[in-house]
Amino acid sequence: MSARLQGKVAIVTGASDGIGSAIARLFAAEGAKVCVADIDVERGLALVEELRAAGQQAIFANTDIADEASVNAMVEATREQLGSPDILVNNAALTPMGKSVLDVSREQWQKNFAVNVDGMWHCCRAVLPMMQAAGGGSIINIGSVHSFKIVPDSFPYAVTKHAVVGLTRTLAVEFGPDNIRVNALCPGMVETPNAFKAWEQTEDPEAIRKAIGDVHPLRRNASTEEIAYPALFLASSESSFMTGHSLVVDGGRSVLYHD
Ligand SMILES: NC(=O)c1ccc[n+]([C@@H]2O[C@H](COP(=O)([O-])OP(=O)(O)OC[C@H]3O[C@@H](n4cnc5c(N)ncnc54)[C@H](O)[C@@H]3O)[C@@H](O)[C@H]2O)c1
Repeated sequence: MSARLQGKVAIVTGASDGIGSAIARLFAAEGAKVCVADIDVERGLALVEELRAAGQQAIFANTDIADEASVNAMVEATREQLGSPDILVNNAALTPMGKSVLDVSREQWQKNFAVNVDGMWHCCRAVLPMMQAAGGGSIINIGSVHSFKIVPDSFPYAVTKHAVVGLTRTLAVEFGPDNIRVNALCPGMVETPNAFKAWEQTEDPEAIRKAIGDVHPLRRNASTEEIAYPALFLASSESSFMTGHSLVVDGGRSVLYHD
């Protein structure tokens, strides 16, 4: 069986760490030429080195998605060095928790929107004309269970993640005639290195990890690979009639009734 993304060019933002790095690894293993776009230069370069050592094609682009000029330079570098982008995974985001509405300053609100919403929009704006010219493409916007449900004290993260679904659906309608598919992928709790680091700050990291896992009907949290595989499905032609969809990958968390 041939690789599922053979010869495709994929940009993955926030690919230096967490879910994004798992997506970049899987896409490269499935034959894609990958641009790792991130502000974390050290981890990003290390990942590119790892992929190249495995015989895969990858570049690193030092990119702040909140800065439109930085995004445009990254997309241009991708086009020059790898080819016109077929796939964009808008994964990078700020994920602060623990703030209630009146605790959040205007600066914090604007910073969250600048990365989580404007950043996604900058990347879409840069790749859409190239995908139009190429006759199609697939954009995957990483949302969250916070795209649909409100967890108290997660302001304004949940508002930005609701916006991800609105942007996804709007672009899907407008660019469907160009054969550009735009879908959201909405994970539940994922065990990233940063999640482990946060749990390490508590008295009993394993107890916290288990308590969060127990919220899901599957009684555990997701691995980063368990998010990367649904991203691969949305990126590949296997999902060729899907657009404007929000794929929830949350171990059943969102269908469970709580009182
Ligand atoms: N981890 C979870 O449990 C979880 C659950 C649901 C949704 N998500 C979503 O998944 C995505 C990835 O989350 P994660 O937990 O892997 O995050 P993470 O914090 O582990 O990694 C985020 C990456 O994005 C990069 N980044 C941050 N700001 C950037 C910017 N301005 N420009 C470019 N890169 C930037 C960071 O350097 C880092 O490499 C996010 O959209 C997040 O909202 C995560």
